[in-house]
Amino acid sequence: MNFADWMSAVQDRTEAALATFLPPADALPGRLHDAMRYAVLGGGKRVRPLLCHAAGAVFDAPAAELDRAACAVELIHGYSLVHDDLPCMDDDTLRRGKPTVHVEYDEATALLVGDALQSLAFQVLAETPESPSRQRRLSSMIALLAHAAGSRGMAGGQAIDLAAVGRTLTLAELEQMHIHKTGALIRAAVLLGAHCGNADAAALTSLTRYANRIGLLFQVVDDILDAEASTATLGKTAGKDAAQNKPTYVTLLGATRAKALAAELRDDAIKALAPFGNRADHLAGLTRYIVERSF
Ligand code: IPE
Ligand code: IPE
Ligand code: MG
Ligand code: MG
Ligand code: MG
Repeated sequence: MNFADWMSAVQDRTEAALATFLPPADALPGRLHDAMRYAVLGGGKRVRPLLCHAAGAVFDAPAAELDRAACAVELIHGYSLVHDDLPCMDDDTLRRGKPTVHVEYDEATALLVGDALQSLAFQVLAETPESPSRQRRLSSMIALLAHAAGSRGMAGGQAIDLAAVGRTLTLAELEQMHIHKTGALIRAAVLLGAHCGNADAAALTSLTRYANRIGLLFQVVDDILDAEASTATLGKTAGKDAAQNKPTYVTLLGATRAKALAAELRDDAIKALAPFGNRADHLAGLTRYIVERSF
């Protein structure tokens, strides 16, 4: 299967799996369930699920297990976006081409959507059909996702982001912020995919090096797109970082050097895939996609 066909097949199966895992909108409390489905379904590039499936493919992981791991990460990501858009954080009104959850529903609902999506993520991961080898790996996978979502991962990165508004960060400080707020979940997506197969310690080391690079890369490109793309293309308000005085790779380095850094991170990431040969072709393809994407 060529890369584009593979990508849309994974996006489609992720959409279907998420629709099954999310509570039906007519189950009580209907407004909360409706808002959870609104937040997660029918939008998004599904980069984290794609990375999870691509990493799983390197180790012949079963597709049904990958669906659960991929959806677990995507549910955490969905929650992080709903909270990121709240008035107390980035105060955004547009996400994935639609009004944000607190605008379409209300703030309290948006808060609860985030809470409930986070719980659902762990439920989806933990309720995997049992096999003895799966049971052994499950506790590591739960710990991995919890760490990536928590105060030493995404939530911690968001705290650093909010504390950085209006300040000039050093390059090292900016890197730490991005590695946490965005890198942690991207890295978890890759490693969870590998855990669904039988990756050994050496493979996990190479894959971790890869995942660290693309985690940072993803947010560097997000910063560039925020500065250069239009609201219509992005499906979220363009130019927000500058308007809100957020330190980004573009404000610190300028667009040209930020793009050069993105190219360097892409090349380093692809080099880290060398031990996997053509089994990692989809991971390499996703790395190029992350740089070349228009939204
Ligand atoms: C946006 O993530 C927020 C960041 C972590 C940079 P994505 O660009 O993956 O957003 P969707 O899921 O495609 O909407
Ligand atoms: C978001 O970073 C990171 C998380 C949601 C954890 P941004 O604030 O830059 O994401 P966008 O640009 O609103 O999607
Ligand atoms: Mg933010
Ligand atoms: Mg934001
Ligand atoms: Mg952004």
